[in-house]
Amino acid sequence: MTTQTTPETTETVERTLVLVKPDGVRRGLSGEVLRRIEAKGYTLTAVELVRATPELLEKHYAEHVGKPFYEPLVEFMMSGPTLAVVAEGQRVVEGFRSLAGATDGTAAAPGTIRGDLARSWSTKVMQNIVHGSDSVESAAREIALWFPSL
Ligand code: RTP
Ligand code: MG
Repeated sequence: MTTQTTPETTETVERTLVLVKPDGVRRGLSGEVLRRIEAKGYTLTAVELVRATPELLEKHYAEHVGKPFYEPLVEFMMSGPTLAVVAEGQRVVEGFRSLAGATDGTAAAPGTIRGDLARSWSTKVMQNIVHGSDSVESAAREIALWFPSL
């Protein structure tokens, strides 16, 4: 048994944007992703099934516009609904990236969402179940895009 010596405070609570991408929703893995987020101890703040538009994706993936995988990525992200999730907790940005695992599902470590549930089979774009914000700043920007009312 471990003893927590430092009490959790609300000062350091972060939010991150998680997306269960269309491959995850199609394969019935939305619940499995939410289960892992909750099992780790994070709180679900908002959950909504969204049909991404090209305009939303261009803003969300602004850093990738023009890259060879950008057009296939948009096509993939529009191939079905996405479950948009805001999760909250201490160091949740880093923590969810750790739960998600490496971008390439084939190489991702077993035990992670991508390592357990995804394979890279397309040469155009990796279909890898989830997105997670990569910094607190990205999270704020992305949450404003996917949840304008929050
Ligand atoms: P994400 O943004 O979705 O959380 O994933 P990430 O940070 O691990 O990966 P990133 O480099 O931001 O790429 C965004 C998404 O684009 C697809 N991708 N495919 N060469 C490829 O086939 C390729 N490279 C990137 C993946 O869906 C990746 O998650
Ligand atoms: Mg990324």
